[in-house]
Amino acid sequence: MGTSSGEESGVTAAAEGVEAWHGLYDALAEEHDYEIGEIDGRLPDGLVGTLYRNGPGCWQVGETLLDHIFDGDGMVSLFSFPGDGRIHYRNRYVRTRHYRYGQRKGRAGLRGLGTQRPGGVLGNMLRPPANVANTGVVLHGGQLLALWEGGRPYRLDPDSLETLGEHSFDGRLKLMSAFSAHPSRCPETGELFNFGMDFTRLRSLRCYRVDPRGKLQHMPRISLPYSPWNHDFALTRRYLVFVINPVIPKAGPILLGTGSIADALTYEPDRPTCFAIVPRDGGKARVIEHKALLGFHFVNAFEDGDDVVVEFVRFADWDQVATRFRDFRTSDFPWGDALMRYRVSSSGRIEEQEVCGGPMELPHADVRQAGRPHRYTYFAGRTPTSTGIHAYDHVTGRRTTHELPPGHGFGEPVFVPRTPDADEGDGWLLTLAYDPDEHRSRLLVLGAQDVEAEPLAVAHLRHHIPMGFHGSFTTRIATPPR
Ligand SMILES: [Fe+2]
Repeated sequence: MGTSSGEESGVTAAAEGVEAWHGLYDALAEEHDYEIGEIDGRLPDGLVGTLYRNGPGCWQVGETLLDHIFDGDGMVSLFSFPGDGRIHYRNRYVRTRHYRYGQRKGRAGLRGLGTQRPGGVLGNMLRPPANVANTGVVLHGGQLLALWEGGRPYRLDPDSLETLGEHSFDGRLKLMSAFSAHPSRCPETGELFNFGMDFTRLRSLRCYRVDPRGKLQHMPRISLPYSPWNHDFALTRRYLVFVINPVIPKAGPILLGTGSIADALTYEPDRPTCFAIVPRDGGKARVIEHKALLGFHFVNAFEDGDDVVVEFVRFADWDQVATRFRDFRTSDFPWGDALMRYRVSSSGRIEEQEVCGGPMELPHADVRQAGRPHRYTYFAGRTPTSTGIHAYDHVTGRRTTHELPPGHGFGEPVFVPRTPDADEGDGWLLTLAYDPDEHRSRLLVLGAQDVEAEPLAVAHLRHHIPMGFHGSFTTRIATPPR
């Protein structure tokens, strides 16, 4: 790509005030395609399929540094496990308009979420943020989609990762529609559910149902007391469950271009958090108001009798989150303060339970448990001495940790079952770790029932993978291009 690497641009882990793991925010300039030659240990026999991951791969365009962690161009990686002990790695940037403009001009020209376009107020007035397709990735109905919460997905070839174009689901997702980066698949029906923030109608969310073959249907809109920014939701057998924070985009500076969109997101704790219980069958949503709280990433939800239970990572301080997203090159990661469960009764009563304390983020559960009670929650977490991957057992209350060496960078854990019908927890966690001494990343394969043990296998990449967001595993094996 046309941008320079972090080392060339001087944005390195050696800069003043930057800890070694911040090398994760150096750009990965190259697009790679190779069989990983250095694998310690042995890959489990049943680990067959493909891990896809997405995240910003580059936070600069030419010499221009981008001002927000969400503004980097989306770079999708795949790790293909054919089942013979080998791993093939490939990464490709999503050919979005933002990416192509930067390649062509060698400078930033589009407005981002936290990065203003050149030209001051007039240059940003009435400009929506560019879709950088950098947040999530899912294979559904044969389509590999790179997801970003403010716009339509980009469709990629699931083998070559070539960008095939913006995906409208046969025209059902109109221009300016949003298809969030956190869809949830029902393990019983194979349907994929998702939502999008509605930029054409205030105080509402759109919800979608995508059948197993990839056909999208609109569900009824959810009416809300305010127009929120919302990131995630969870699915039960009968409902979509939202916990909507009173983080509200201020329309004035966004539309007038007087400030960045990220800076216009304002936490208003005098307003309620809205628990929205949305029937999957299209019935009327229940919206229950609760005191303000902050949660961005959900683990799961399920029904317990007439109650709905939802689990997510709660945050204590919006200003800290916003500051760390903006000052990502020098700040600590924006950790959540606790894993929480909220029980919503049919009468609208809400009970809260702290499951375990943080700092933590990027939670994950076995996706086969989506919508039903899950026993294990996995997440990245911090201890006083290091970061690592944690597993929490809801039955025993035991928390186990795979600690990374001090100063090393971490990533989201993704659970892979040993077989399609293996018990919950019987499988592996795939996660990326970053070694600042070598400025390289490793793929760790951890035994999910013994995360404290040495990894079953460690695959050493030839380079680092910049700090990413979300990934997913599929049993389909991506094949190298001919
Ligand atoms: Fe997310």
